[in-house]
Formats: sequence, structure tokens, C-alpha cells
Amino acid sequence: MTAPGRLNRAIDWFDQRLPIITLMKHSAVEYPTPKNLNYWWNFGSLAGFMLVVMIVTGLVLAMQFTPHVDLAFNSVERIMRDVNYGWLIRYLHMNGASMFFVVVYIHVFRGLYYGSYKPPRELLWWIGLVILLLMMATAFMGYVLPWGQMSLWGATVITNLFSAVPVVGDTIVTLLWGGFSVDNPTLNRFFVLHFLLPFVIFGVVVLHVWALHSVKSNNPLGIDVKGPQDIIPFHPYYTVKDLFGIGVFLIAKASNGGALPPDLSLIVKAREGGPDYVFSLITGFAPQPPDVELPPGKYYNTTFPGHAISMPPQITDGAIEFADGAPNTADAIARDVTAFLQWASEPELEERHALGVKTVLFLFAATALMYALKRRVWAGVH
Ligand code: HEM
Repeated sequence: MTAPGRLNRAIDWFDQRLPIITLMKHSAVEYPTPKNLNYWWNFGSLAGFMLVVMIVTGLVLAMQFTPHVDLAFNSVERIMRDVNYGWLIRYLHMNGASMFFVVVYIHVFRGLYYGSYKPPRELLWWIGLVILLLMMATAFMGYVLPWGQMSLWGATVITNLFSAVPVVGDTIVTLLWGGFSVDNPTLNRFFVLHFLLPFVIFGVVVLHVWALHSVKSNNPLGIDVKGPQDIIPFHPYYTVKDLFGIGVFLIAKASNGGALPPDLSLIVKAREGGPDYVFSLITGFAPQPPDVELPPGKYYNTTFPGHAISMPPQITDGAIEFADGAPNTADAIARDVTAFLQWASEPELEERHALGVKTVLFLFAATALMYALKRRVWAGVH
């Protein structure tokens, strides 16, 4: 017997006892799909893709994160600076969270626009709403984990909303906190729940797709599929279309976050001088004009909003001397300071840019190929 024959028999043997292959064939290969779905129907698979990205990057981050109020912030800094490609994983997870929401919002608006919430898809829609609520809770708890100022106060503000519940509000808040303020028990339970909920979401997404496959997809015309002439199998038509969609989405995602177009973030501009914020802030001190009044203890600064800043001028011509005799004008020193601040805030900036450019080039090539393949596969569909 040939090797493929033996393999097929093994697969049949397995499938007769646990029909996973048949299940996958029904739902991802044969699933009858309307011919006329437009690109707005790509966003469900994109959301599924993002859920997987978030779970994988989250798992790797959790291996290095320490959920303790004294250690959490430093463990995140360690991930960014010392863990190999920790910065990449964390940026994927952080920016990925935003992209996930963008994708799901578009998915929801597609549903609203085309009436996909109407019978017989009500339950599918309600399950979607449950997913959305779970996503919000998960994202909120993730935001708290680095335990910076924004995390702490974010947690304080949002949990305090529950105190508005009549009679039992304060009890609920104390329960959520695990004490009488946002503290270590809060961080611990938020970490546990932030780890758990994405798997719950995954389970609910399975129900979502199950419900979808029971009532079948809506389509841009909003009228029911009339017969076999209106449908095509999911594979290869929509597998290739979804893969093309993922390619385009990844180009958008990789081009963001500082890779391409060139990073316009505050800090990088600061390195070059000119309109940069930090540079012009520390070189922006000027004599107080006669018509300007400053509150006591404030200094005049042309860059600072309102022109009144509490920080006294610190950098002047010749304030320090360089051992190698390099120019020590105020401008030169300010440029050094901003370059140092930029480096200290992101030591791997250059590497991030280089990797970003390569990734985007690769994605362009792969997506162009996928587009060509899609055109070929769809050539016979009318
Ligand atoms: C993790 C989040 C989600 C994932 C992974 C997901 C996944 C999917 C997938 C794969 C499809 C089929 C492809 C498509 O029609 O785009 C779909 C369809 C659908 N989803 Fe979602 N979904 C999510 C969130 C939501 C939310 C929040 C809602 C609404 C509140 C929603 C409502 C729907 C509806 C109504 C359909 C049927 C659309 C149609 O056939 O016209 N989904 N979803």
C-alpha cells in the first residue's frame, strides 16, 4: 500500500471514532457561503486572527511578568529592555489590543449596516455582544497590570463606578478590590482574570461561529440565498480571500507603531531638534516680556503651554564641559540630553525600525502573491 493510502486509512480510522476531520471539513471547507460577500465580511476572520495573536503574545508576556505591586512595573521594564524581543512581543500585544478593537468595531458596524442582527441571526448577535463585553473587561484589566500611575488611577476610577449601584455598591467595590483600596490583591485578581478571560472569549467565539453556521451568513443584498447558484464552498474561495485580508491588515498593523511611515513620535522628533518638544522645551526659556504676568515661582518658556513653567532653566552655554572638548553650547547640550532621553526611553528604536521595514517588505510580497492567487481562484465565479 502507498504511503498516502495508509495515511488516509489512519485518518478514516481516527475520524470514525472522533469526527474532528469531518467537523472541520463541514465548517471550514464545505461551508456553503454566499457568492457575493464583500470585503466587510473579512473582519470576522480578522477578529479570530487577532484573538489568537493576543493569546499567543499574552502567554509569552505572562512568562516574564510578576503580578505584585512592588515588582510589576519593573518586570514590564525588564521585558522591554532585557528580555530577548520582549519589546516586540509587548508592542504586538499592546498595539494588537487596539487593532483588535478596531477590527471588532468594524465587524459590528458591518452587522448594523447590513442588518445581520435581524432574524434568524439574533442569537448570533447577542453572543457577539457577550464577546464585546468580555473583551472590554479583559482589556481594562490588562491596562492595570503594568501598575504605572495610569494603571492605578484607571483601576480606581473604573472600579469606583460600581459604587453607583444602590445599596450594595460599596460592598461590590470592596469585593472587586479585595480590600479597602486598589492594592496588591486587586492586581493579583486582575492578572488571573486577564489570563483567563481570553480563553473564555475563545469558547464564546466557538459558539458564535457555531450559531453562524447554523443560520448561515447574511450577504450585502440582505436577501436570502435562493439556491445552489448563489453559494460557493468556503474553501478555496473564502480561505484565500481571508488570507489576502489578513495580509492587508498586517501591512496596516506593521506600518504603524513606528516602523513605516518613519516614526513621528514625540521622542524621536526630540532627537533632531527643530519642532521637537523636549528639545524646544529645555531651550525655550526666554526673558519674561513686560506685558506677561507670571504666577510666583514660575518661569517664562516659549514652548510650554501657557508659557509659565515651574522648572527653572537648567541648560546654558558652557554649563558643562566635555572631556573631549566638544562644543558645549546650550543647543549642543540640549541635543545630547534629548538624544539620551530618546535612547533611554527606547534602546531598541533602531532595531525596531530595521525589523519593521523588513517585515513590511515581506508582507507586501506575500500579500501581492495572495492577491494574484485570489484573482485566479475567483476567476470562474460570476
Ligand atoms: C472576538 C470577537 C469576534 C470574533 C472572533 C468573531 C468572529 C466571526 C466570524 C469568523 C464570522 C463569520 C465571518 C463574517 O461574517 O465576518 C462572524 C460573523 C458575525 N458576527 Fe462576529 N466575531 C466577533 C465579535 C462579534 C461581535 C462583538 C458581534 C456583534 C455584537 C458580532 C456579530 C456577528 C454577526 C451578526 C455575524 C454574522 C454576519 C453576517 O453573516 O452578516 N461578532 N463573526
